[in-house]
Amino acid sequence: MKKVIFTAALMFIINFGIAAEGDWGKTGHRATAEIAENHLSTKAKKAINELLNGYGLAFVANYADDIKSDPDYRQYGPWHYVNIDPDAEKYIEEEASERGDLVQAIRKCVVVLKDQEASREEKQFYLKMLVHFVGDLHQPFHAGHAEDKGGNDIQVRWFNEGSNIHRVWDSEMIDFYQMSYTELAINTRDLSKSQIKEVQKGKLLDWVYESRTIADDLYAGVENGEKLGYSYMYQHMPTVLDQLQKGGLRLAKILNEIFGEGKSHS
Ligand code: ADE
Ligand code: ZN
Ligand code: ZN
Repeated sequence: MKKVIFTAALMFIINFGIAAEGDWGKTGHRATAEIAENHLSTKAKKAINELLNGYGLAFVANYADDIKSDPDYRQYGPWHYVNIDPDAEKYIEEEASERGDLVQAIRKCVVVLKDQEASREEKQFYLKMLVHFVGDLHQPFHAGHAEDKGGNDIQVRWFNEGSNIHRVWDSEMIDFYQMSYTELAINTRDLSKSQIKEVQKGKLLDWVYESRTIADDLYAGVENGEKLGYSYMYQHMPTVLDQLQKGGLRLAKILNEIFGEGKSHS
């Protein structure tokens, strides 16, 4: 009996630990992946389809979260976010975390995927990680402050439940809508070709700074212990959808650059 209680308590602690520090929920990550899938070149689509044994990007979008609790993959924990000192003007390569961060993670994924020497297994692994990390990059609190763990330590009431501001942005708002990832993906803005190009412009660090700027605004708009509900959600859901869409369009850009812009020849 004692063993049963101990196991139950352990499961609770483990589950709670995971729930407290998730990322864009599963639906958000899949929506970003689906948007990317819809903007792949024929060539990239074919190469990716082959690499993923026929599965689409949405199917693998949560792999990097799924492996988090496995001790063999613990080293990848810090790869899901980047904390830039609030007083620093920019990301300083020399001062970046030795444990890795989101910037180093995305760069590593791209390097392996472009490396002709890398094995098929390695490419599969880093492609799945990349799909997830470009999603994380667009969750503003994944470019938040270290001192509050990207908002994880800022407690709020979400309607009548205990939560924190990081989790509100990861999943509470998205889950409230109870939409599938495909429904979320089509409820983003209709953009013209030139507007898509505009979103895809810039480099990795530009996108990091964009998330960081949004996070600064969000930090200023919330107080520890605050009760949040409908009005917060209606105010911020457009930003959530925009970020999911930008993530998808930029992931497509990265993948098209890696796997080829053109139409497939075979
Ligand atoms: N998740 C866990 N720690 C975090 C941090 N410092 N910043 C953002 N997300 C996190
Ligand atoms: Zn998160
Ligand atoms: Zn993540």
